[in-house]
Amino acid sequence: MSTSYHDAITHASVNDYSHVPFRAARPTVSRIQRPLLFVVALIAVALTAPETAAQSVALSVDASKGGAKIDRNIFGQFAEHLGHGVYEGIWVGPDSKIPNTRGIRNDVVAALKAIKVPNVRWPGGCFADEYHWRNGIGPADKRIVTLNPNWGGVIDPNTFGTHEFMDFLDQIGADAYVSVNVGSGTPREAAEWLEYMTTAQPTTLEKERATNGHPAPYKVAYLGIGNESWDCGGNMTPEYYLSQMKIYSRFVRNFNPAQQEKQQMLKVAVGPGGGEPRWTEWTEAIMKAYQQHTWSWDINGLSMHSYTVGHWPPSYASLGFGETEYSQILKFTLDMDELIAKHSAIMDKYDPDKKVALIVDEWGGWYAPLPGSNPGFLVQQNSLRDAILAALNLNIFARHADRVRGANIAQMINVLQAMILTDKEKMVLTPTYYVYKMYVPFQDATFVPVTFDTGTYQHGDITLPRVDAIAAKESSGKLWLAITNLDPNQPVEIAASVAGIAVKSASGQTLTAPKVDSVNSFEAPNTVAPKAMSIKVEGGKLALKLEPKSVTVISVEQ
Ligand code: AHR
Repeated sequence: MSTSYHDAITHASVNDYSHVPFRAARPTVSRIQRPLLFVVALIAVALTAPETAAQSVALSVDASKGGAKIDRNIFGQFAEHLGHGVYEGIWVGPDSKIPNTRGIRNDVVAALKAIKVPNVRWPGGCFADEYHWRNGIGPADKRIVTLNPNWGGVIDPNTFGTHEFMDFLDQIGADAYVSVNVGSGTPREAAEWLEYMTTAQPTTLEKERATNGHPAPYKVAYLGIGNESWDCGGNMTPEYYLSQMKIYSRFVRNFNPAQQEKQQMLKVAVGPGGGEPRWTEWTEAIMKAYQQHTWSWDINGLSMHSYTVGHWPPSYASLGFGETEYSQILKFTLDMDELIAKHSAIMDKYDPDKKVALIVDEWGGWYAPLPGSNPGFLVQQNSLRDAILAALNLNIFARHADRVRGANIAQMINVLQAMILTDKEKMVLTPTYYVYKMYVPFQDATFVPVTFDTGTYQHGDITLPRVDAIAAKESSGKLWLAITNLDPNQPVEIAASVAGIAVKSASGQTLTAPKVDSVNSFEAPNTVAPKAMSIKVEGGKLALKLEPKSVTVISVEQ
């Protein structure tokens, strides 16, 4: 983790003088000087009136310094059989009038390709612990129709199963993150699923896969061993889960010849769901066991789930809110940093070499269901607030890049903090989608520390950093900066000095909108969309103005 961000937010910011012992330190002022000073002070106040004046922030970055690689998998997605996330969002079926390729919508595929989705976690979530893979293979008209008791009790036709998921991944160019059923399945069921997907040997399961249309083995990059096993996944104690997890780790094998030496499947154990003692105890138990693990089992990742919800049940509106709800949600979301730090510290005790990745495979804003929607479908709108929330979390993951090597926003389409919303043939890209698009250059780039004064944005009793920023460099040496202005009222003038490269030019894109709750709708799809911005370069320094409530990404050419 970079220390510069911590320094920046824990040290007094440029606008916060509350720590200065002002009374004791100020020089004495004569009676004659006092009225004059009062007038000067009034003029100073007028000149810094909040509505008009931009705050200045000095930011410095040394491109010759590098940190951990920002694993592209922190930009992962999550697609659960939930509401219209899979059915309608991805799968419309080959006979649909909606343009599709083998049943998968073309508009959605094109949009997802543009954000270079690294991996998709599927089939759940809570759903995964009730999923039986055999229901989702074979001829479509023979598939077993089941129920989805977790999410609205609706019918799951199982027309989207293993082959359709892998076809979808192939179309968008992403890796598979498959969560196997620990709650109501068996190690044998999961082991057979993996054999079915990955073996190249002529076993009965391999032949069945070939008969079903895919002779070549599939790749499975990640194996999730259960989901929230402390709750919807079976309400297990850490000890009970550990005994199960070891069995799955041992027997659920990936046989793909291409994944034996290189690109080995990473096994992800269920991890914490918060910062309270029950979660720290869970992390302790799993990591302590990991430290003592023998040749017969192993894990490469520990999952963490953390939603920005405020309180359960989710009651914040996703539409039609004001600055109070905006600032509250952003405050909640910034807790992600402390949560990661807390669990990373426990992991460090048992795994100082950081072999086990922390994978935040469910995160995002979780708000009240949209009025009139099925509450089991977790339908919400996605506003400029969500774009800022996404940028702040991606920045946090990047700052913890040495330990956080995967994250999956919940959920990709039509559910919770989605990239894409669809309604039959219509599709709209959300503000969050555009943040993912702007951040593509950060995928697998090297983290570069940035030093800056965050300043403060105050609303009522909420105090937040005004500015947040990260930097990274590509293997070509190109430098990227992402800067967020959280303040919804005031612009910020950034003066950025860049060392380590000879800066020639810079260009940027910024994402903002008229209101904190501005959204993209089917009728007005471009209300929140990135726009090019101008950046002055003089003497190796960049000067730019950040709009209030905006996310900006800049590339620096040398
Ligand atoms: O993303 C919705 C649900 O949230 C997931 O199914 C579950 O894992 C979590 O509680």
